Amino acid sequence: MAVMKVKLYGSEILRKKVAQLEKLPDHFETLIADMYETMNEEKGIGLSANQVGLDMSFFIVDFGLYDEKYGRQIFINPEILEMEGETLDEEGCLSLPGINEKVKRADRIRIKYKDANFTDRDEEYFDYLSRVIQHEFDHLNGIVFTDRISALKRSFIKNKLAALETEAKEIEAEETAA
Ligand code: NI
Repeated sequence: MAVMKVKLYGSEILRKKVAQLEKLPDHFETLIADMYETMNEEKGIGLSANQVGLDMSFFIVDFGLYDEKYGRQIFINPEILEMEGETLDEEGCLSLPGINEKVKRADRIRIKYKDANFTDRDEEYFDYLSRVIQHEFDHLNGIVFTDRISALKRSFIKNKLAALETEAKEIEAEETAA
């Protein structure tokens, strides 16, 4: 297993609507294992494929970090069918280290997706789990959580965001040169 590089705010792939999967990608189990290792290393609860540079519609979560009665789960080609209610809570993101902001989210969602066996699922989630899913789902549509705060609040963190963008561009330039 290997820890992967997490793409930072400013990376182009974080602004892309990623491609739907027709089937499980090759070496999917290894890929998922690496993504979990990366997520655990960074103490995250969720990670989308484009955060590790993949143009693929799926994300992983480890709800066990929130409540032991839940576990790890993979959401492929997710589609949110219903959203209801409103909650406000703090979020962070492995692609935006050092930034935490309160974000409004729906309290209840109904989501359709394919699981790790490419089997169709249709489930409801509430509260924090619903929040994590909405955050990751946003990633697959090129949206990051700071897009969902007020312009005023965003202006308070504009230096941090600009610094991340600069770092992301530097890393991409190094990778291109290598
Ligand atoms: Ni995130």
